[in-house]
Parts: sequence; C-alpha cells; structure tokens
Amino acid sequence: MVKFVKRQDYDQMSQYAAELIAAQIWMKPDCLLGLATGSTPLGIYQKLIEKHQAGLLDFSKVRSVNLDEYCGLSPEHDQSYHYYMRENFFKHINIDPKAAHVPDGMAEDMEAEGAAYDALIEQLGGIDLQLLGIGNTGHIGFNEPEDSFPTGTHRVRLAQKTIDANSRFFASADDVPRYAITMGLRSIMNARKILLVANGASKADIVKQAFFGPVTPQVPASVLQLHPDVTVVVDEEAGAQI
Ligand code: PGA
Repeated sequence: MVKFVKRQDYDQMSQYAAELIAAQIWMKPDCLLGLATGSTPLGIYQKLIEKHQAGLLDFSKVRSVNLDEYCGLSPEHDQSYHYYMRENFFKHINIDPKAAHVPDGMAEDMEAEGAAYDALIEQLGGIDLQLLGIGNTGHIGFNEPEDSFPTGTHRVRLAQKTIDANSRFFASADDVPRYAITMGLRSIMNARKILLVANGASKADIVKQAFFGPVTPQVPASVLQLHPDVTVVVDEEAGAQI
C-alpha cells in the first residue's frame, strides 16, 4: 500500500521524512536503516543531525546499509557515496562507523561483493526502513530500466539520462562513472517500511508514472506499488500530477 504525503516545499518535505526516520529509531534503537544519496535526502540528513545535536536522537545502536556506490571511486573521492555519507551525515552523528555500510565500488569481483552485501543485509536482520529517492529514469538505488526487475546487489551500467543528471556534480559528463554497484530490488522490497522522497518539477512526471502507471521493470520504482508499507513524501512541485 502506498501512502502519499504532499508538503509545501523542500524544507517541509525533509522535515516530515526526518520525523518518520526519527520515529523508527525511537521505536527500535538498533534498527537497520537503508540509506540513500543524491541531492534529495540532504535536507533530511540535516534535520536528523539537528535532532541529534539537540539531544533528541541517539544513533549509537543504529546500523545502516547504503543503496549504492559508483564503480571505480575510492571512499576518499569527493563524489563517492562513501564520502557523501561521511561528510553529510555520519561524521555529525554518533553512529558507530563500523555499523554504517556502503557497497564497495572498488571491489575486484563485483559479483562476490554483491553476494556479500546481500548476505550482510540478511545477517543484520533485514532493513527496517529504506529511504529512497527516485531518478528521472524511474530508478531506485541505481536500478535502471531493464527487461526484468534485478534482484540481488549487482553491477549496473548507468543510463545516459542518469549520467547527464549526475554530471552536475562532476567537472564534466565524461567524468561520471559509467558503472555502479547497487542493492537490487529484493533487499529493497524486503524492507519492512519504505520512505520515498521527491522534490521539484522535474520529478512530477516520473512520480506519476511510478505510482499510477503499470508495474513494469521499465520504470523500476513502479514495483513499490506491490509493497505493503510505502510512504511517498513529495513537495508541491513533484506532486503536481498526483
Ligand atoms: P537526486 O537523485 O536526489 O539527486 O535527484 C535521485 C536519484 O537518482 O535517486
């Protein structure tokens, strides 16, 4: 079941989503959070940091698994998702760095890394709350449109649209890695709760397609229609067509 929450602007969207994550941590202090990168969640991380700094939120027992990482970028690269998570979130809260996992984009054997990541998620008890953004291709994590839904954590070739969208973070489109490693849809769909956030007019069309169009691997996020507990939080612009 999908519940929609429309908020006035980015700040309100971030506030609402942060409250849901905080509630999850209050209910289960040692929960496993599935975390996302991209520009959309930055406001949420900021709000969670503020709650932590105000003494309202304790991350000491929280564990986390991130959705994805670019292939070939080391954790020190300033566009890697290791770096993003450290700089935008982890270093500002009291999560145990050893409990905060991000797939290894430098792994020699991506198949083995993918299998190990899936095994880790299972060993940690499965994801309690998965935070997702949505790409213009309909991707969640880096699961791009395909002929069938990808299941396990795997290496993926990024869609040209994704490379173009993400080139704003790099010196040029040529510098955007062509491949990434991403959690597949099995771990995402097995999360007990899913929280998807989207803001801005450029997301309005894909949000409508994902949640009101057919369930198809051509729009990977559409699979979320089959999940029992999804909350979609959008701002006015991203929610303009729903
Ligand atoms: P964005 O990316 O938050 O930077 O728009 C979303 C995504 O690609 O999942």
